[in-house]
Amino acid sequence: MVKPLDDVRQISALTYGFIASKALFAAVDLDLFTRIAGGTANLETLANATAVAPNRLRTLLTALKTVGLVTETDGKFANSPAAATYLVAGAPGDFRDYISVVNGGFLYEGLRHLGKAMRGERTFPDKGFYEGIVYSEGGVGGSAFSRAQHAGSLGPAQVMARRVDLGSATTLLDVGGGSGAYTLAFLRKNPKLSATILDFPQTVDTARRYAAEAGMADRVNHVAGNALTTPWPGEQDVVLMSYVWSAVGGNDIRTLASRAFDSLKPGGQVLIHDFMVDDDHSGPAFAAWYLLGALPDNPEAECLSGGFVERCLSDAGFSVDGTEPMLHEITALTRARKP
Ligand SMILES: C[S@@+](CC[C@H](N)C(=O)[O-])C[C@H]1O[C@@H](n2cnc3c(N)ncnc32)[C@H](O)[C@@H]1O
Repeated sequence: MVKPLDDVRQISALTYGFIASKALFAAVDLDLFTRIAGGTANLETLANATAVAPNRLRTLLTALKTVGLVTETDGKFANSPAAATYLVAGAPGDFRDYISVVNGGFLYEGLRHLGKAMRGERTFPDKGFYEGIVYSEGGVGGSAFSRAQHAGSLGPAQVMARRVDLGSATTLLDVGGGSGAYTLAFLRKNPKLSATILDFPQTVDTARRYAAEAGMADRVNHVAGNALTTPWPGEQDVVLMSYVWSAVGGNDIRTLASRAFDSLKPGGQVLIHDFMVDDDHSGPAFAAWYLLGALPDNPEAECLSGGFVERCLSDAGFSVDGTEPMLHEITALTRARKP
């Protein structure tokens, strides 16, 4: 439980918090942390490397120092340990692409429209906000979005594939599978498995490319369509939906749950992986923030919790095994079986 605030400065810190986020996004876009890791990093060398005027770069670096991302000693800049591990090209946890495109691009852009979303208004009448800005003229385009999504999903997908034993399963249907990061992780871990990815037509080329790059093109089938209306293949051992239930409204969640039920063999299992808060809605914060970030995309989206997801699955006829944390304080996984 978070301690209730009692100081106006704490409220100020919240109102200014987005400026720190913007400083991070700007630094990642200039690839500042990679440049700092690369060698002598003083204001002059960094200004030359980034082609940013020293006055502006000084201001940005000062902001980055205040949040602990970089340090400065005798005019030389150094990355903090976390910046060195996660924000530098080639570093073990490098997720610059995800920060820049998903958080700095989509989430930030989307949240500018939160007020409208709270009133139940949609930015694009016929599609979600992200789909609208990804695929509209001048948008980043489906492949840039899928690439960033892929970078963000690779690590978590491996965690899930290690943790979830698919037993003797031979067929997996990944609904809203996007780039196929989860599918590929499960295929790698389960040599007898083959998979179908169902997603909007715009993502299929990217998913095909990743499957080919992973040497698994012959084990992945792609269905281009809308998961709410396009027929799903039947006789599946496993149906996975990762970050899909947070993107659709309550009625559509019910439709996806009953479609999953129909496409599974008896004994087959459904896996719902998504941002989920605790059932008493007390947190965790990151899950709550991501769910808030989903509202501009779809004002009908639900505040998912383990209990909510389990109820939807059991209403669709599933026997629920339970919900467990997946990405610490961000996502959870609910497993259920078709009796
Ligand atoms: C946040 S991405 C997650 C992708 C992937 N499951 C992962 O975890 O990396 C959500 C995906 O669901 C897809 N999606 C959302 N609504 C859909 C629908 N009605 N039909 C098909 N795909 C849908 C989107 O195109 C996108 O690829």
